[in-house]
Amino acid sequence: MIRHRMYALFGTNRTRRASFERVAMVTKPLVVAITGANSGIGLRAAERLAVEGHQVYAICRSPDRGQAALARINSRARTPARLVLADLSEAASIESAVTCIRGETDHLDVLINNAAVFDQTVRTPQFTSAGHELFWATNHLGPFQVTAGLSHLLASAPRPRLISVASKGLVSMPRIKIRFDALDSASWYSATKAYYHAKLAQIMMSYHLALRAIGKLDVACIRVPAVRLDADRVDALPRLLRLVYAPKNRLAAPPERLADTYVSIATRETTWTEHVTAAGDPRVELRGIYVDENEHPVTAPAFAYDAQARARLWGLSQQATGNPDWPW
Ligand SMILES: NC(=O)c1ccc[n+]([C@@H]2O[C@H](COP(=O)([O-])OP(=O)(O)OC[C@H]3O[C@@H](n4cnc5c(N)ncnc54)[C@H](OP(=O)(O)O)[C@@H]3O)[C@@H](O)[C@H]2O)c1
Repeated sequence: MIRHRMYALFGTNRTRRASFERVAMVTKPLVVAITGANSGIGLRAAERLAVEGHQVYAICRSPDRGQAALARINSRARTPARLVLADLSEAASIESAVTCIRGETDHLDVLINNAAVFDQTVRTPQFTSAGHELFWATNHLGPFQVTAGLSHLLASAPRPRLISVASKGLVSMPRIKIRFDALDSASWYSATKAYYHAKLAQIMMSYHLALRAIGKLDVACIRVPAVRLDADRVDALPRLLRLVYAPKNRLAAPPERLADTYVSIATRETTWTEHVTAAGDPRVELRGIYVDENEHPVTAPAFAYDAQARARLWGLSQQATGNPDWPW
């Protein structure tokens, strides 16, 4: 059984600080939903959480890959994980996954928005049935809709936590901005640009939601470095990309290493607000939300600190996902 604490929530707007005050010690497993649980980091994190006795909702796109992952996870799980199917690029598919989870649990302690498309072979923009470019739909609008859909379950948990995933590659793009003129990237598309554009949005939405739900939701966004891809992922690449990718993959961190970070943050007893030392400077105010694989606070691209841009992105994301209702 995993030991964790229940917390009471309080905070003040003036100081922008909040704390999760410890009120009692209980022995209680967490309820955790994680997207992209069938491969790479997501699979390892789901396995670890299930082995530790947490109830895992493994959200996967493919029924076959999902079933295979479930069998692997449950071969060692203390609490059997549940498979939930969702294609994060399609709103209707997300809606049915959310309905399924809502039908099975009355609360959700942790949501990990891990899944992402980063297929560099997608040379020209591809569009979903709703007309959104694939990377934007899968890596930003999808997680946004999943989070909104599960937000009331999170709000029913004693110490809810949201974990999103960005990329260390953003350090080489300090001036990257959200392209409000063409969010769906048709005019400026490359797979790399579209990927990092959506990852910047993940950091911005983490910051926005952290402040919106201060004292009620603990928010973390993990800056994932180069991580070794599973063999079947590498095998699926075209030959040339495979040759380019092979040496990089050998040097990359094993997915288990990042799964440790996910699990540590999902089950930690501290919160990002404990890293805040002063109000006023947005970089200080938001410190501790965006963290590296060692859970050390890291700096985001400058644009992420623009509160107006974050609010604008929030409004547009709301519009694009049917104006969902949030508890915070
Ligand atoms: N690997 C790296 O070097 C690296 C570096 C920086 C950041 N990251 C981030 O780390 C996270 C995990 O990556 P990973 O390395 O574990 O990669 P991975 O093994 O390729 O896993 C990606 C997961 O996302 C799922 N996914 C993709 N499109 C989806 C969709 N439309 N609907 C539902 N699920 C979808 C995949 O499902 P399918 O099996 O159905 O495709 C897969 O389960 C991602 O957010 C990624 O951006 C990775």
